[in-house]
Amino acid sequence: MGIVNREKIRKMIMKRSASIGTIVAAVLLTGACTQKPATPPQTLSEAPVSVVQPSQEAVSTVPAIKINDCKIKLEELHGNTEKSQPDVTISYRNKTLVEGTDYVVSAEEESSSVGKHELTITMRGDYEGSQKVPYIVVPDSPVLTACSTKVTTALLEWTAVKDVDGYELEYVPADQKKPARIARVGKDTLSCELQGLLENRTYRFRVRSFKVVDGYSEYSAWSDPTEKALTKIKTVNGATYVDDILIVNKTYPLPADYGYGEDPEALDAFYRMQADAAAENIWIGIISGYRSYSVQSVTYQSFVYDRGQYEADRVSARPGHSEHQTGLAFDINSTAFAFADTPEAKWLARNCSQYGFIIRYPEGKESVTGYQYESWHIRYLGVEKAQKITASGLTLEEYYGLSSRYAD
Ligand code: DAL
Ligand code: ZN
Repeated sequence: MGIVNREKIRKMIMKRSASIGTIVAAVLLTGACTQKPATPPQTLSEAPVSVVQPSQEAVSTVPAIKINDCKIKLEELHGNTEKSQPDVTISYRNKTLVEGTDYVVSAEEESSSVGKHELTITMRGDYEGSQKVPYIVVPDSPVLTACSTKVTTALLEWTAVKDVDGYELEYVPADQKKPARIARVGKDTLSCELQGLLENRTYRFRVRSFKVVDGYSEYSAWSDPTEKALTKIKTVNGATYVDDILIVNKTYPLPADYGYGEDPEALDAFYRMQADAAAENIWIGIISGYRSYSVQSVTYQSFVYDRGQYEADRVSARPGHSEHQTGLAFDINSTAFAFADTPEAKWLARNCSQYGFIIRYPEGKESVTGYQYESWHIRYLGVEKAQKITASGLTLEEYYGLSSRYAD
């Protein structure tokens, strides 16, 4: 029978695992020895087994096992190259542990609560003694259940994990040319819209849970990742299109020389709407349609002159950023805030999508569109898209995951 010396007991590893109330203990004895050492073997208390602290590398190599059904895995337990009988006995709670076997042991005395704990393993034979092995119980991993992407946003949903303090979402372009970013949310949040993603990329998403114990966050393993491409956005001669819709807002300008007057299709749709409204004794008319870059420049400057730039930016687009330059947007009847309460404004809000228009800057969406409520400003998208977006209750920015923010 070979003799085990202290170098042979190389590692005693307790590793993180991926499940709440989960630990994995791995006791690994390696190295072949066929001769007795020159000095008598020492007991474990004199020659402590080196304990490898849990590490990130360890996480990926050890399977998850529940603490109340916990396994102690002896990768190798033999005293010589022939793998004969062990000359040292390792036991856990009076069970002798043998090489190459997974043990199911009761661990009631050990804690299954998230955090750092100690497990006692006893050695008999040449290295009689016991060894306390640290282990960490980590929370369960959540599972990503939904991931929908838009132009610069992604909406993620995941399963709840009991008894945690929150979740972290990691998102990174799949080409990994940018570092991963992490968003942290509280335990009651099970969905999150990530914003500010880079256009036209495929992203990789994953989620994990965490619990704060003694001031430190204990993390679950990451969920399996999900990869998803963002909705395509393209630029044609300086103009931006998503889903074949010309996008103009604070983020996406038009070139100064863009401009073709009112769009004939939009104008035709408006006149049909006007006729139908008139049949119901509702009188609507265009008070401002196409505005060139230079006309918008004068309009915007007059607002700045009157109210200062901050207030002007809430109601008027800077030149190059107005939808009026597209020829697809019309102001109806009045640009006074009181117009919202008129029968005409209410008729417009109720019916305009049937003719291919949306109320472009709805009430309460200034932080999204960049503009105060404009009950008079309609934008032509075509019937199908206008009806879809109106039915969603979302703004154009929300529907496609677009920002509307000046660069400066
Ligand atoms: N009033 C809108 C935002 C514009 O100036 O185009
Ligand atoms: Zn307008």
